[in-house]
Amino acid sequence: MAFSKTEKIGLFGGTFNPVHIGHTEAARLAVERLGLDKLIFIPTLNPPHKELPESSASAETRLEMLKLASKGMESVEVSDIEISRGGISYTADTIKELQKLYPGAEFWLLMGNDMLCTFESWRSIDWLVKNISICALSRHSDKSDIELCAKNLEEKYGVEIVFAHNSAIDISSSQLRQLLKQREGREYLNEDVYAFIVKNRLYGVKPDFDWLREKATAMLSASRTPHVLGCEQEAVSLAARWGADEDDARSAAILHDITKKLTLNEQLILCKKYDIMTDTAESSNVKLLHSKTGAAIARDIFGMPEQVCDAIKWHTTGRPGMSLLERIIYIADYIEPGRNFPGVDVLRRTAYTDLDKAVLMGLEMSIESVKEEGQIPHPNTLLAIEYLKRSIKA
Ligand SMILES: [Fe+2]
Ligand SMILES: [Fe+2]
Repeated sequence: MAFSKTEKIGLFGGTFNPVHIGHTEAARLAVERLGLDKLIFIPTLNPPHKELPESSASAETRLEMLKLASKGMESVEVSDIEISRGGISYTADTIKELQKLYPGAEFWLLMGNDMLCTFESWRSIDWLVKNISICALSRHSDKSDIELCAKNLEEKYGVEIVFAHNSAIDISSSQLRQLLKQREGREYLNEDVYAFIVKNRLYGVKPDFDWLREKATAMLSASRTPHVLGCEQEAVSLAARWGADEDDARSAAILHDITKKLTLNEQLILCKKYDIMTDTAESSNVKLLHSKTGAAIARDIFGMPEQVCDAIKWHTTGRPGMSLLERIIYIADYIEPGRNFPGVDVLRRTAYTDLDKAVLMGLEMSIESVKEEGQIPHPNTLLAIEYLKRSIKA
């Protein structure tokens, strides 16, 4: 073959805000359709043709997500060439740099509807059309537009355009950003990218509860899973009863025992990692530590807001002045449908008629069982009891 020595390189630029499976699938199709030796994702620093929306991820973060999304993809790389160069990201500048890096290579620019239909206004268009070919990517919804724009460019500039239609995935990053706020859209994202978005709370994301449950369950022992699911159910109905945020209650309940399976030593490693101060009682009692390490994981891995982390943090000992959510999680943990101990029915009824009284009963019961185990009650539990007694009297 006459051209077998020419390296064919696809360049896929864009904001990737965030990168989704429409992008990765298009990249895969382009590699296949054009027989590319290499495809390079190039996240834009400052696109010349559009303003990034306010809640956008930083360039470094978008680059990071691209690296996660393309991990394991054959012939696919990610380049920070535009981010490192700084300033406005003009494609012609990028191609010139790449021509030096890959002398003699044949460059194919991957372009979606937005890019292709504004291509004529790009800087150095006359130079560009002589130095690149185009791979037009279209989603189902914009297919006719892109065909029209492509025809115009072919006729006017004689640039070669090949289509890589991707009709199965019809999503844009801006639609996806909206979905993420509504606990939706996970199916359009690479699993690691989704976890990264949740961890860093990008785009105002709220995690999909099925995903959160899956993740939590994977960290629990099989025997604890029904307890956690029961606790979730109880926490949500208590939140509805007492006017607390049901989503916060659900999140806290799902995550409240997430580190319970870990050994004391593993708990202490987490304490060190997250700068968790422990008292003497805690550093020798794995039962007490899991609430603090659980709260740290909820914050760090699942990007949970403070009120949810606090509900997890205080679910074992309680504390004086517990918030409504903290009291709900404390008591839900005690009375979830799987619990069966003398007095649980009274406690269940009380939880729906007088929450403070139920929490007080729970705290007192916990003191009893701690004493029975020959342990010293935690000072926070004693303080919580005193506090509740005072506030119930008042
Ligand atoms: Fe627990
Ligand atoms: Fe629990």
